[in-house]
Amino acid sequence: MNDLDPLIQEAGAAFDAAPTPAELENAKARFLGKSGQLTEAMKGLAKLDVEQKKARGALINQAKQRVEALLQARREALAAGELQAQLRAEALDVTLPGRKRGVGGLHPVSRTMERIEAIFASMGFDVADGPEIETDWYSFTALNNPENHPARSMQDTFYVDVKDAEGRWLNLRPHTSPMQVRYAQAHAQRHAAVEPMPEVRVIAPGRTYRVDSDATHSPMFHQCEGLWIGENVSFKDLKAVFSDFLRQFFETDELQVRFRPSFFPFTEPSAEIDIAFASGPLKGRWLEVAGSGQVHPNVVRNFGLDPERHIGFAFGMGPDRLAMLRYGVNDLRLFFDGDLRFLSQFK
Ligand code: PHE
Repeated sequence: MNDLDPLIQEAGAAFDAAPTPAELENAKARFLGKSGQLTEAMKGLAKLDVEQKKARGALINQAKQRVEALLQARREALAAGELQAQLRAEALDVTLPGRKRGVGGLHPVSRTMERIEAIFASMGFDVADGPEIETDWYSFTALNNPENHPARSMQDTFYVDVKDAEGRWLNLRPHTSPMQVRYAQAHAQRHAAVEPMPEVRVIAPGRTYRVDSDATHSPMFHQCEGLWIGENVSFKDLKAVFSDFLRQFFETDELQVRFRPSFFPFTEPSAEIDIAFASGPLKGRWLEVAGSGQVHPNVVRNFGLDPERHIGFAFGMGPDRLAMLRYGVNDLRLFFDGDLRFLSQFK
């Protein structure tokens, strides 16, 4: 026991009380710093004679070594504590299942489109793609739907803030019917020198847009247009082709198909196509799946063909509606919400 022991104890207590490395270094300064208590004690040696200096100096050095040892011990304890805290914070629960790379799948509407394309391809139909931003002429005028005609309001349309060469606003196509005109025009030009002209037989699936939104309408939806033009293609062919398609699509011969008189500017006569299932939850209910009709002579003329010679039918169906019926989905919006819990059921 000497007079420096309390100082050592005090230093040890101060070091132990320092909760962080920064505070520990502050505590160190009080004992070992430039004007720390031990440093001051050393300065006091100057006043002593040689013998006393030796003895006192040795004592102070011992005390200094003990304080340094206490400091080092506390430093290590704090560092170990930090490491433990870090390890705890970063702890991994190795019993949790790992993150798998999910297997993707086709969207139910894409699957439906592919199914439609495959069935029509088996009947000799080409599949065509076209622009979603259309001119006024292709979306309406060419389809015998003149400017300011009330039939245009059947399709509440999105317009784009850009005008075409004729000074009319471009639109997001409200139906796939512009593709009838684009495809038939190109076909007529390509085969202008061929006699007789090969038949036009095409479907045009794709995205379409209208200002509509509820459980069965989305502002972006899908349509699939169909067109068959030849020299002798009549309404009975429309009935046969579309009924056959529907029975293949729904994989049942018991499906009832009804052609209900309707109006479209680009077809005459026109019909809505309804179906009714013979069994299942929708049994016996008439459901509308497409619009159709014999292509209007004015439209055939806009194809660049002679309506006295080239006749045929067109239809436009809603693949979203068909997907809902096939998969038993009752809200169209589910298809476009992008919720994987819904979509992964179709993998
Ligand atoms: N384009 C029509 C619509 O969107 C559907 C249709 C296509 C009707 C072809 C007749 C012929 O409502």
